[in-house]
Amino acid sequence: MHLTLLKLLRCPVTRSSLKIEVLSISRKKFSENEEEIINEGILYATEDWFYPIIKGIPRLIVEAFYDYDDFFLKYMPDYPLRRSVLEQKYQGLIQYVVNKNHRTKQSFSKEWSIFKYNSDKTWDLDIRGMFTRFLKEIDENEKDLPGKLIFDAGCGNGVLNKAVAKSGATIVGMDFSLSIEKAFESNDQERAFFIQGDVQFPPVHFETFDIVHSSGVLHHTNNTELSFSCLEPCVKPGGKLSVWLYHPRKNFIHNIFNTIRKFTSRLPLRLQYYLYWTTVFPISFIVNRIKGNEKNVSETMVGIFDWLSPEFRWEHEHGEAASWFYKRNYTLVKVTASDLFGFNITGSKTHKNANRDI
Ligand SMILES: C[S@@+](CC[C@H](N)C(=O)[O-])C[C@H]1O[C@@H](n2cnc3c(N)ncnc32)[C@H](O)[C@@H]1O
Repeated sequence: MHLTLLKLLRCPVTRSSLKIEVLSISRKKFSENEEEIINEGILYATEDWFYPIIKGIPRLIVEAFYDYDDFFLKYMPDYPLRRSVLEQKYQGLIQYVVNKNHRTKQSFSKEWSIFKYNSDKTWDLDIRGMFTRFLKEIDENEKDLPGKLIFDAGCGNGVLNKAVAKSGATIVGMDFSLSIEKAFESNDQERAFFIQGDVQFPPVHFETFDIVHSSGVLHHTNNTELSFSCLEPCVKPGGKLSVWLYHPRKNFIHNIFNTIRKFTSRLPLRLQYYLYWTTVFPISFIVNRIKGNEKNVSETMVGIFDWLSPEFRWEHEHGEAASWFYKRNYTLVKVTASDLFGFNITGSKTHKNANRDI
């Protein structure tokens, strides 16, 4: 973690700023130079909450004190006491986040562990293709990106973030799966930052980002509109919110897959891997080839996991998503891209003093 990131970070529960205790420093190579980064540390909220920095990444999920208890047992002498304070004061909240996140974190960690950074395309696109699609989705020109502050909520493998940072914008990529570790490792751009966080508890300063983009993420949470409403405050007045969502399809095979996933997503992940490998994969691979799609083995498996493994996968009509923007006082609401599986929709956040009649 670079120290300059600290001013953007907030406790996801209390929203207080964070104080840092640095435990170890290392050096990271970027394309243009080498920089000192904080490799391990602890971030303290003003009250009760604390979060680790591990492998250079701030782990700002509510349940971090559970997920990383080995780290705290090693580095924080009063951890047992601090943990019991959290458990006593926030029992319901902790149970809620652990239950809602457990399976989704695991399934996406597995999905992205299959992805090969050196050879694979992401959703059929190389890095340039992803950047071009991103520009279309957010409805911006490349020349307008330098100097912009962008939040990519649910950044997955983080490949897009490199291209966005190279264009001159600063981008904070957040994901709550362990994909964030490989995303950080493979990044060579100084303006691309990575944090572990939950879209329903965004651990960043509110009303700060010029553009908040969340592609293919919100529909994988327990409640898409709730996640939208939790993320929306990160956009600064006059800024833009952009989300990509699945839409419903009237297609027999599509609906069969949606039925199958109700069962497969509950299976242990190792079993899912072997099940897909021996059943869906061969069919998918051959059908892709017949259709002229050159997806390789790992790209095909990532696609299969993406559909059949996540606990939640909702589909939304364009008008329904538009209503989420209008209800929250956004204007210029617009569908910027649409394909077989989903669509991207953007809106502009009203300036604070606009529409005020008292
Ligand atoms: C289908 S992938 C899309 C990744 C990336 N945006 C892209 O377009 O390639 C969905 C991502 O959302 C992340 N995700 C799901 N629920 C999340 C949550 N509540 N908070 C943060 N990330 C979440 C997953 O870990 C996964 O990496």
